[in-house]
Amino acid sequence: MATMDTAKLQEQAIKHLWLHFTQMAGYDPDKHPVMVRGEGIHLFDSNGNKYMDFLSGLFTVQIGYSHGEEIGRAMLEQAMELPYYTNWTYSHPRAIELATKLAEITPEGINRSFFVSGGSEGVEGAIKLAREYHNANGEPMRRKVIARQIAYHGTTYGALSLTGITSIRTPFEPLMSGVRHVAPTNPYRCKYCADQGSCNLSCAEEVREVIEFEGPETVSMVIMEPVQNAGGCFTPSAEYHQRVNEICKEYGVLHAADETICGYGRVGEWFGSIRYDYKPDIITCAKGLTSGYQPMGAVLFGDKIADALLEKEAMYLHGITFGGHPIVAAAALKNLEIMEREGVIENVRNNQDYLRDQLLGLKERYEIVGDVRGAGYFWAMELVKDRATKETFNEEECNVLLRDFLSPTLLEEGLLCRADDRGDPAIQISPPLITTRDQIDEAIAVFDRVLPEAQNRMAKLH
Ligand SMILES: Cc1ncc(COP(=O)(O)O)c(C=O)c1O
Repeated sequence: MATMDTAKLQEQAIKHLWLHFTQMAGYDPDKHPVMVRGEGIHLFDSNGNKYMDFLSGLFTVQIGYSHGEEIGRAMLEQAMELPYYTNWTYSHPRAIELATKLAEITPEGINRSFFVSGGSEGVEGAIKLAREYHNANGEPMRRKVIARQIAYHGTTYGALSLTGITSIRTPFEPLMSGVRHVAPTNPYRCKYCADQGSCNLSCAEEVREVIEFEGPETVSMVIMEPVQNAGGCFTPSAEYHQRVNEICKEYGVLHAADETICGYGRVGEWFGSIRYDYKPDIITCAKGLTSGYQPMGAVLFGDKIADALLEKEAMYLHGITFGGHPIVAAAALKNLEIMEREGVIENVRNNQDYLRDQLLGLKERYEIVGDVRGAGYFWAMELVKDRATKETFNEEECNVLLRDFLSPTLLEEGLLCRADDRGDPAIQISPPLITTRDQIDEAIAVFDRVLPEAQNRMAKLH
């Protein structure tokens, strides 16, 4: 593969490009490769280095990187037929076909799609749709939203208000009023039941307590990911989402599943809410909808909401110029077709236990791995200072462990995954849904090289 002029690209990047969530002062080109090509589950940088992408871009590239020609052809055909039209007032075939396809694969009762351009916009849309629903029902006081601590729901103002990560909220406060954050499900450190060995659903009951405290007539929506990403794959107990769903119904509150990551096969079903067997009123999604080949998100919602708006002849006062863009919708349709044709969700189902067992093997071999949790192809390894006490690393130690050692070393080893400390420090592993057992073994071999050194370094610090 021809390499590019990396020095020139990096010089221009430093001068002109501002990276997302990136400290640009002291930008080190070695830590920020320029990715130029993708193939299967691999990426190649401008120096010709090859990486296994065990983060799927950003939890996005379900089908891997090799379908550009097929998806590109579908987009080209669409561009020649109708390159752009809006979903404001009028429609076009691709948006209709995509909405119809989504009604087929979403949980029963979710039959409507409102298209947007990404995950944050999906969450914004859900906040407003929930208000419109309550307005139509004559309950305009219902404006408050309950989300979870440490959860990430996006960065635009409304979505950021639901995000429960203090460090990225505080610089922008005051945010949208009326948002409350409850405990996430974290079986490893749950304040209610971590020492009891099983979930007693107190975390779900906390939702009830907050609704009661706020006054049910003021609460609009509860929003949660089926498996919470930030904090490191907080999986729920089997009954958690069902209980939250019951509580929402009891108090007339809408239940939204933010499936920006969990949707489109990530946890072994089309949607996480299918895997955990509950029926949300709203699903927000993005990422895997197009496998990232084009930017698209959606607010998918149930008949209950649609019927309320239809009955009141109410409009959903919301619109996005590019929502449902025909070329983007053509890419999404082709992505879903490829996912079905190539059996990528079946691949996750066939290999998810294997991936889990290999990660548990790492935990057996290395004391620094305190917990392994996740579902499907969506996993995290929480790193601890002391496995017996579950003592975690302080901020300075996290810097040494994650930023100075793990992130650059995994990159050097050609493995892309995320060392994250938005909650307690964890390594996030989320490979494309086409990843094979051999490729899982390759990634585990990298961890077998890197984790002993991580352990040694941290031991020396004490
Ligand atoms: C659960 C969740 N919600 C919302 C978002 C925001 O999506 P976007 O970055 O497309 O705006 C993300 C992004 O990672 C996410 O993980």
